[in-house]
Amino acid sequence: MRIVLLGAPGSGKGTQAALLKEMYGIPHISTGDILRGEIAQGTELGRKAAVWMNAGALVPDELILGMIEARLLQPDTKRGWILDGFPRTLVQAHGLFEMTERIGQRVDAGVILNVDEDVIVERLSGRRTCGQCQTVTNVRDSATESCPVCGGRLVLRPDDEPEVVRRRIRVFEDQTRPVFELFRRRYEMIEIEASQPPEAVTEALRKSLDRYDHPEDGS
Ligand code: AP5
Repeated sequence: MRIVLLGAPGSGKGTQAALLKEMYGIPHISTGDILRGEIAQGTELGRKAAVWMNAGALVPDELILGMIEARLLQPDTKRGWILDGFPRTLVQAHGLFEMTERIGQRVDAGVILNVDEDVIVERLSGRRTCGQCQTVTNVRDSATESCPVCGGRLVLRPDDEPEVVRRRIRVFEDQTRPVFELFRRRYEMIEIEASQPPEAVTEALRKSLDRYDHPEDGS
């Protein structure tokens, strides 16, 4: 099963993708996580990407497209994948269509998580990420400063500072919202009201995705 998960910053893409990964046994491919991994390792790509990410801007399409194609060709993608945070521009969307056709990996399901802007701001200002294992939590759900999974220190992502969040929302409206329209024209999209509690979003997703076949070989 190959799923493209679209949504604004803070709509819950990462939270839901982690659950879908367990449910369907397919990799969760987050361009944001890959880029943060590159930054943590101090690679050249990471050094370049950090400048755009910390400012709330998008990393250039050519860097992202090369990175995604390399990831989709990894052996663990044979049974499928969940794309989170990609595509984010019309150039990336057309790049995905061209690439999947060329490498023989069809998109099975497109999902849009819809959420209002005030919910986004509230969620992102409360998000905390574990510096060690990258588990994502929210101060609203857990008052502790330690990761509930590994005990590591919880930190605020640099791009979750309020000023940067406002910039990310503007970038989303200008560059990513048009991608939703492109997908709606091309696929019968699953649209989920994502302001509901996480469990309700997961259940709505599960019901919608269950109508797709889940062949063992992901074809
Ligand atoms: P990326 O990491 O992709 O960030 P994003 O898309 O802005 O999304 P977020 O990670 O902020 O939110 P999310 O939707 O995953 O929500 P989450 O589940 O964490 O990208 C970061 C940057 O990298 C970009 O700005 C850009 O610079 C660069 N980049 C990445 N991909 C790129 C690309 N393709 N092209 C160019 N540049 C790219 O949830 C948020 C919080 O809410 C958490 O605290 C969570 O616990 C909580 N929560 C989740 N669901 C619920 C719920 N239902 N109810 C209540 N709380 C909830």
